[in-house]
Amino acid sequence: MTETITQSERLTLRVPRVEDVDVLAAYWGDAQTMKYIGKGGEAWTREMVQQRIEGAIERQRVSGYCFWVVELRETGEVIGQGGIVPVANQGPEIELGYRLGRKHWGKGYATEIARASAKHALETLGIDRLIAVSYPENAGSRRVLLKVGFEDRGITDRYYDTTCALYELTRERWDALRADQSGG
Ligand SMILES: CC(C)(COP(=O)(O)OP(=O)(O)OC[C@H]1O[C@@H](n2cnc3c(N)ncnc32)[C@H](O)[C@@H]1OP(=O)(O)O)[C@@H](O)C(=O)NCCC(=O)NCCS
Repeated sequence: MTETITQSERLTLRVPRVEDVDVLAAYWGDAQTMKYIGKGGEAWTREMVQQRIEGAIERQRVSGYCFWVVELRETGEVIGQGGIVPVANQGPEIELGYRLGRKHWGKGYATEIARASAKHALETLGIDRLIAVSYPENAGSRRVLLKVGFEDRGITDRYYDTTCALYELTRERWDALRADQSGG
């Protein structure tokens, strides 16, 4: 059963399943893909991926959101993950993130994932404010956040014991941007 959370033009975001571990272990086992994740550049083992998928399934059950699995609508192929989590697994802020297998980069998917996740979080789940953090040198990811409407809040050492670029998107800003787009 596909537990769909939300869909965009090309993508489905759904609840993770243990069967996703194989494809995700191949993606997250690539050190280049993980260059700007966690401590940076650590290829994850299958066990690490499995642990996180189990954690995401539990997070979904408890909180109603997690780092979802992303599929192409056309083929059902799993291309990566994206969604929302309490920052550093603790909160209180809710962090938006995304990550794709390398062969799926450069097609606008991260922007689509971020937009769909933000919409679901702010409009459906009623969350008031999202943050996102990125390694300062992760220019592609920072570009994605700006395209979606996040505001640059500078550099911080507050999260993950590292120096991050911090972004913020409030529901107020989201609504204002959408009103602008609809010409209203
Ligand atoms: C970063 C990542 C999510 C981007 O995914 P993607 O689907 O290729 O992103 P999109 O195509 O939606 O958008 C990327 C944007 O950044 C731009 N970009 C990409 N690399 C860039 C770079 N090195 N410098 C400047 N801009 C860059 C692209 O041109 C595009 O902007 P545009 O639409 O204005 O042309 C993807 O490369 C990835 O999963 N990387 C590994 C995991 C990761 O770093 N996740 C984010 C952690 S914060």
